[in-house]
Amino acid sequence: MTNEQYYELITPYEDACKVLMTKLEILNHSIYNKEVGHPVHHIQSRIKSKKSMEDKLNRQDLTDSVINAKDHLMDIAGIRVICFFPEEIYDLVNGLKCQNDMLVIKEKDYIKNPKPNGYRSFHIVLGVPLHCMDAMEYYPVEVQFRTLSMDFWASMEHRICYKKNRQDKEIVKHELQQYASMLEQIECRFGQLRL
Ligand code: GTP
Ligand code: MG
Repeated sequence: MTNEQYYELITPYEDACKVLMTKLEILNHSIYNKEVGHPVHHIQSRIKSKKSMEDKLNRQDLTDSVINAKDHLMDIAGIRVICFFPEEIYDLVNGLKCQNDMLVIKEKDYIKNPKPNGYRSFHIVLGVPLHCMDAMEYYPVEVQFRTLSMDFWASMEHRICYKKNRQDKEIVKHELQQYASMLEQIECRFGQLRL
């Protein structure tokens, strides 16, 4: 993939990402709980770098062509929504699913079913429609919903060991599982402390 091809490829994904960011901001304004306020703490977004696309395609034994990137990478556009409490994540997800202009391409609930390492998050890939002069095409955007507590753990785990090989892997793995469970308990307690 040349630099030119990369920039041409990502343009509609940037647009799809902006559309979805706006939808999320509108939803955040519309969901208000008088005790705890609006659900979103902050939102981040990123477009996958050229190198990261090529590496991921190569890991799947695919050539790093534009066609393969479009067909096989569902996370070229990525949004991360950080909330305070888990229930707020489901409010936002339901709010998005009600908007029937978008497609639900893929959904993984790692909150109801955490990964064995302790990772918790709600992942959804949405097809966002983009209208050109005479055509419409859906572009996938991956949204990861996390609470502050889930994001703290995932960010640290990512720094420390995600997809890394280290000698003390088993010990660290066990320790991180314990922290995940402690953070879940703290989050649950904060939930009880809400009025
Ligand atoms: P990828 O090939 O990584 O995209 O995996 P997948 O297609 O099976 O998707 P999944 O929804 O499981 O994970 C996608 C993304 O979620 C990753 O790129 C990470 O950003 C995040 N993620 C998933 N598992 C973990 C984890 O164990 N730790 C951390 N820190 N992040 C994770
Ligand atoms: Mg990914």
